[in-house]
Amino acid sequence: MRLVLQVWRQKSAKAAGQFVRYEANDLSPDMSLLEMLDVVNENIIGRGEEPIAFDHDCREGICGTCGFVVNGKAHGPLQGTTACQVYLRHFKDGAELWLEPWRAKAFPPIKDLVVDRSAFDRIIASGGFISVNTGGAPDGNAIPVDKESSDRAMDAAACIQCGACVAACPNASAALFVGAKIAHLGRLPQGQPERARRALQMVMTARDEGFGHCTSAGECEAVCPKNIPIDVIARTNKDYLGARLHRMTAEAGPRPVRPGTPKR
Ligand code: SF4
Ligand code: FES
Repeated sequence: MRLVLQVWRQKSAKAAGQFVRYEANDLSPDMSLLEMLDVVNENIIGRGEEPIAFDHDCREGICGTCGFVVNGKAHGPLQGTTACQVYLRHFKDGAELWLEPWRAKAFPPIKDLVVDRSAFDRIIASGGFISVNTGGAPDGNAIPVDKESSDRAMDAAACIQCGACVAACPNASAALFVGAKIAHLGRLPQGQPERARRALQMVMTARDEGFGHCTSAGECEAVCPKNIPIDVIARTNKDYLGARLHRMTAEAGPRPVRPGTPKR
């Protein structure tokens, strides 16, 4: 099969970018989008030009490394699927594909389809972990966890940190990503000691990194390759507001006692 590609080419963060047209011929419908880029790159290299830069690692939908916008949709046209798992059979022969990088202030461009997603690492480092000693493997079963909590925690833990939610959000918000981490750890007993601090730190770090606010547009949930449900954001808001209130109350100190109030 044959496809026409319009690929965003940008030499560096500071250089101006533009779409460049490539004809991709003799493709197999069983190739993935990334394998198609490999074929296109071989031709580009053969002509002595710079290949198209794109992120990838596992190519099995696990690692979260790949990701770009295909015809306006983060990770392409299939729901619950990473770009590396989208195959050419999902496109019509002769179709035109527009490939461009995630676009968000907090994800500065590096080259072509590659952006810097290290802001996500800094959000995780600010609170997306637990520091209690959880013991050895047998201790994992020592604290009973109810079925609903463990199922919901596992669902949230499926986030692969790809950034599609940010790319699709009109506010470039990282709320779904942050919510997934908070819902994952906050539903488990081991995540309780740092629950409030985690919510405060992660939400504030996301803001400081330049991600926008969530206005419940829902685009994040629609493009997430791991189908993280948007209700994790409500959980983030609950934990964050509770933690803010607790901190404000603690900072205000004890309430003044009005004269005449009986002692307890
Ligand atoms: S929430 Fe979904 S879209 Fe966002 S980073 Fe995690 S896996 Fe990717
Ligand atoms: S390359 Fe690992 S998820 Fe796509």
